[in-house]
Amino acid sequence: MRSQAAAIALALVGSASAFWRMPCRTQTGHGRIDPIVDPGQISAHVHTFHGGGNFGMDTTFDDLTADGSCTSCEVEEDHSAYWTPGLYFQYSNGTTVMVQQVGGMLAYYLYYLQNVTAFPEGFQMVAGNPSLRDFQGPFPDTDLSSWPTDPTDQFFLQQRALGFNCLNYNKDPEPSLYRHKMMTKDYMDENCVDGLRIELAFPSCGTGAKDSNDHKSHVAYPSLVKEGNCPEGYDEHYPFLFFETIWATNAFAGDDGQFLLSYGDPTGTGYHGDFIMGWKSKDFLQQALDECTNASGEISDCPLFTLQDDSVGAQCTFDTPEELKGDNPMGPRDGLPVNVPIQYGPADATDYPVAGRGGVATSSMSLSSAPSTFSEGPTLSYSPANPSSTSTAQGGIVVAVATSDLLGHKAEASSTPSSTTSSTPGSTEPAPSSFITSSPSMESEEAGPNIISTSYMTHGNEVVEMAIQEVDVTVTATTYTTSTAAANHKRHLHHHLHPHGRR
Ligand SMILES: *[C@@H]1O[C@H](CO)[C@@H](O)[C@H](O)[C@H]1NC(C)=O
Ligand SMILES: *[C@@H]1O[C@H](CO)[C@@H](O)[C@H](O)[C@H]1NC(C)=O
Ligand SMILES: *[C@@H]1O[C@H](CO)[C@@H](O)[C@H](O)[C@H]1NC(C)=O
Repeated sequence: MRSQAAAIALALVGSASAFWRMPCRTQTGHGRIDPIVDPGQISAHVHTFHGGGNFGMDTTFDDLTADGSCTSCEVEEDHSAYWTPGLYFQYSNGTTVMVQQVGGMLAYYLYYLQNVTAFPEGFQMVAGNPSLRDFQGPFPDTDLSSWPTDPTDQFFLQQRALGFNCLNYNKDPEPSLYRHKMMTKDYMDENCVDGLRIELAFPSCGTGAKDSNDHKSHVAYPSLVKEGNCPEGYDEHYPFLFFETIWATNAFAGDDGQFLLSYGDPTGTGYHGDFIMGWKSKDFLQQALDECTNASGEISDCPLFTLQDDSVGAQCTFDTPEELKGDNPMGPRDGLPVNVPIQYGPADATDYPVAGRGGVATSSMSLSSAPSTFSEGPTLSYSPANPSSTSTAQGGIVVAVATSDLLGHKAEASSTPSSTTSSTPGSTEPAPSSFITSSPSMESEEAGPNIISTSYMTHGNEVVEMAIQEVDVTVTATTYTTSTAAANHKRHLHHHLHPHGRR
């Protein structure tokens, strides 16, 4: 048995009693929209959106769940809206392009707290703070046992609810929530040959309120971010919502320039995300939380869910609002869309005039010959992750430490493609959804799947292997003709799950 051939040592810090992973392989759109923070007006920066397609500047639960609305996620009953800022690369001449997102978003629902209850209808929340430009904590985090048991310091927890993983599928994976700021461009060029994964953990303790003035204070992190004690008055235990997005930063290896998050952040410490509950009903979500407890975490192992093909999800997109049509959020363009200043910190970022909002002129969108905004900021440094130490680093969604057998195991996986495919639970072959166009054509897969990475998740004493398979996708670069980075990027990642029993 392969599971015996693979000697896998696991270190899981904390254990969710169950979880599932919602794949939302395609974006519903991107643009300066944020119906939670800036309802009805132009948002200060670009976000990328997944989930419910009946979406715009004023979106609410009722819109997301309206008859005839769609979702880009794989479960038909989930029209929730999930969004994060876009990641950009700015060349040293000032020209800026959005980095290609790889494989959409994974939104994990993990049951770390006891007796998780469903988000109420109308519930929405924001995690993270776009103004932050500094993280002074130690790296890696100090041992969880040294953290306060009383979660009064929400700022401390919020800063540790962000993760930046350097992806190199030939090395041991880094644990989740490992780094709390973005690595330097040089570090990424040298080490992160498969790109960057950005993670965001949402607070899972709640007052029961659907929202609050700052869209945050109706929820709070438990004392260890994902588990632990809730603050007084935050007695609702929601599922631990965890976003993962992967960005093809490796497409810019060797190019002179810098990575920027859309709100003008080269540090990553201001990373944030938003969620509007858009499940069919609170009761349905509660039933899913109660019944979808298969250790695999696969949505296909929950009979309650109606799965839809990724090719259907890919057709779920929203129309760009009229006032944003000239934004050119994908680039190439001069600087961030639109006129967002780069703020290096470490002081908090300050507000800036939002182009097109309330009398602020929208600048020319054409590439000017005199690019404006590039300047090298101070470098953030990190020592390289020592793979042998990641086993004890904090994390827990994907914490895996492989012995030297892992490489052999991987080689085996890629040399036995048919058994890999047939062991995919649920037997629904993931559709070749493209993250660029809604109807890509697949090239022949005669060579068999090329497993370029595996990572592992655990539940109790079960180990789940996630094999990341490389597939060539012929990209019809209609919406993206201007971006060489995207046109050159022809890789699509499938995630397959292979549960392994472990003794
Ligand atoms: C800036 O540099 C990039 C990469 O070399 C290039 O693609 C782009 O056209 C340049 N922009 C301008 C305005 O020359
Ligand atoms: C969870 O629910 C069970 C059964 O209703 C109850 O006995 C237990 O005290 C609850 N735990 C918490 C932490 O609320
Ligand atoms: C969990 O799902 C697997 C398929 O991946 C299935 O074989 C197994 O029986 C399920 N377990 C339970 C408890 O339903």
